[in-house]
Amino acid sequence: MPLPRLAVLVSGSGTNLQALLDRGPELGGEITLVVSDRADAGGLRRADDAGIKTAVVPPGDFADRSQWAAALEETVAAAEPALVVLAGFMRILPASFVTRWPVLNVHPSLLPAFPGGHAVEEALAWGAKLTGCTVHLVDEEVDHGPIVAQEAVPILPGDTPEELHERIKAVEHRLLPACVSLFCRGLVEVDGRHVRIQT
Ligand code: GRF
Repeated sequence: MPLPRLAVLVSGSGTNLQALLDRGPELGGEITLVVSDRADAGGLRRADDAGIKTAVVPPGDFADRSQWAAALEETVAAAEPALVVLAGFMRILPASFVTRWPVLNVHPSLLPAFPGGHAVEEALAWGAKLTGCTVHLVDEEVDHGPIVAQEAVPILPGDTPEELHERIKAVEHRLLPACVSLFCRGLVEVDGRHVRIQT
């Protein structure tokens, strides 16, 4: 049986994409397309090195957000994915996109604490003792959809945002591939906000 097809969206360095790639066939799905909103995203180079097709859809090339979103959706649709993975994709997707495919996101906090683009800095500024990462299904609101898995990471005295983010990412690199793998094997059941993993 062919493996489920995966499209991965990246905006940055792509270490989470690399963690997915490093799983090889064990991932249970085949990454057939990597898309970025930025031509300089390190994730694109990682995809190239792995021989995976890439596409860049920069918002600046379009008259408005809805035209950009339509082009992004068309690009992803051409890959006919069973699952879309946001691995550090820093833009909000429209309802048409997140209802068309199951979309998984990895976020560097224990949601619903610290949603948005500055989760690591905000957890530090708040004086939290514990943060972590969340893998969740994407819905129409930012960092809001049903939670698939979470893992805590302690905040240590004197942590800089960079040090804390590195420790969170080390956990993400294990949790995201594990969740993708569960999806690919059809073991994830979603009931409203509740996600059950079949064992
Ligand atoms: C990760 O911390 C992820 O949680 C967040 O963006 C970061 C992406 O890092 N959404 P990388 O590009 O995978 O290295």
